[in-house]
Amino acid sequence: MSLPFLKRKHRLSDADSLPTFSRTPSPLPMSTYGLTKRGVRFFLLTTVIFLALVGLLYNNDVVSRYLSRRLPPLYEKYRQRELHLPHYKEYEKRKDIKYFWAANHAHSSGWGNVMQDFVMMGLLAHATGRSFVFNDYVWNPDGSQYSDYNGKLIPSRIPLSALLGGPMVGGEMPYGDNTPRAVAPGFFEKVCPNPTVLRVEDINDHYMRFDDGASATLVFDTWVKKINSVEDPCVKIDKNDIPIFEFWIFGNKNRMLPIWSHLKTSPIATHWGWSPLIHDAYQRNRHLFLPTPETSIAGRLLSSPSEEDYTRPIPGLLALHVRRGDFENHCQHLANWSSDWNAFNTFPEFLDKFDRPTDGGWGETSEKNMQMYIKRCYPSIEQIVEKVAAVRAASKDPLKYLYIMTNGAVSWVEELKKALADADSWDHVGSSRDLKLTWEQKFVAQALDMFVAQRAQVLIGNGWSSLTSNVVMLRMASGMSPDTNRFW
Ligand SMILES: *[C@@H]1O[C@H](CO)[C@@H](O)[C@H](O)[C@H]1NC(C)=O
Repeated sequence: MSLPFLKRKHRLSDADSLPTFSRTPSPLPMSTYGLTKRGVRFFLLTTVIFLALVGLLYNNDVVSRYLSRRLPPLYEKYRQRELHLPHYKEYEKRKDIKYFWAANHAHSSGWGNVMQDFVMMGLLAHATGRSFVFNDYVWNPDGSQYSDYNGKLIPSRIPLSALLGGPMVGGEMPYGDNTPRAVAPGFFEKVCPNPTVLRVEDINDHYMRFDDGASATLVFDTWVKKINSVEDPCVKIDKNDIPIFEFWIFGNKNRMLPIWSHLKTSPIATHWGWSPLIHDAYQRNRHLFLPTPETSIAGRLLSSPSEEDYTRPIPGLLALHVRRGDFENHCQHLANWSSDWNAFNTFPEFLDKFDRPTDGGWGETSEKNMQMYIKRCYPSIEQIVEKVAAVRAASKDPLKYLYIMTNGAVSWVEELKKALADADSWDHVGSSRDLKLTWEQKFVAQALDMFVAQRAQVLIGNGWSSLTSNVVMLRMASGMSPDTNRFW
């Protein structure tokens, strides 16, 4: 469409400069005025075309890979907004607002682990009636702007509001809940120049940290009592402290599941929200999750993007969480240590269960156990196809679309997509590798996958993955049927 214009432009400039063209008489009067006018018109046209091309190619993979040599985004707009939330003016004047800042937030690990920590700290702030002070999602706490990650630059820290929306980042609490809204650390430091600093080491004794009998609820209640005993409206945990809930608690169902009775009714879980940036990424790629059927105009209007209720499941979507890459080694490591699933992947009402082998050694295991771990943690294409067929057959709701959340290599993902499409008929099979994302969205894409997985009609997740378990927790909190949470 645009090429003829480009060609004409070239012909014109050739005619301008090359005398050979003067042999052919021009049908147009060669007045300076005419040429200038045409020149201007062509100049404008080509400018418009050039801009349109840039716009079109902006999301093209090849072009964005070229552009990715530029620096990662710093999400300044989000940071600025966090520093000027609408409730700050009022909170600054009020003396009755209390705050809780766990500055010892998890860092240098994947978003799944960091989110677990944020959930528990949000829950603690809410249970003690304090404003939750939200941290950045920090990869590297050394104060730098960018960090090297496997030879590629990533932001060292991302403002939490680029990932999340809702109460965790200062959104309103649900109606009737008078807990003060969340604030950013910058605001906390302004209103709390001399906070009471609590040390986790003083409170979490050996029993609370390591004993199988010490449930998360016991640790939680101990902290609620401790925080409630502090009169100071300003409470902070030192940034160098260990986490209140260390990672092994999240992997221990006996210790973790008791907290569910408290978490499931808390707005932290029931009103968990994603950022406008993630919602925009969802809209841009909606055809991958909810391919709109070619029906009547009325039908299309009803399913128009602007009317979509984000708290509802995505009808007909089966989401698969397929971890690849570093997980091959990781799954062997899990087998060698007979690791159990993440706690929120083990609700007793789930159809798929995992019986942790008890005959494993110390850092090694039998061949049989290893094969079992690989099948459930790092399934082959054949094993994936088989499981998908079984889950589809067992689903009460018809499943029509597949979306594969994966970090697998593009060629492997294409092979998997083909195998799935060959084995069964699907209206659409898409994957994370098909996503078209803006530069800012690229570095928070795991949140988009979570938003989609949270709302999929049925999910097949990885039992050892914290991303899966966070999603499953949110699905359970929103009242989706336990049968819709499946595992490899
Ligand atoms: C698992 O244990 C076996 C046997 O001790 C060892 O050869 C292998 O390297 C271990 N794998 C990982 C990932 O730790």
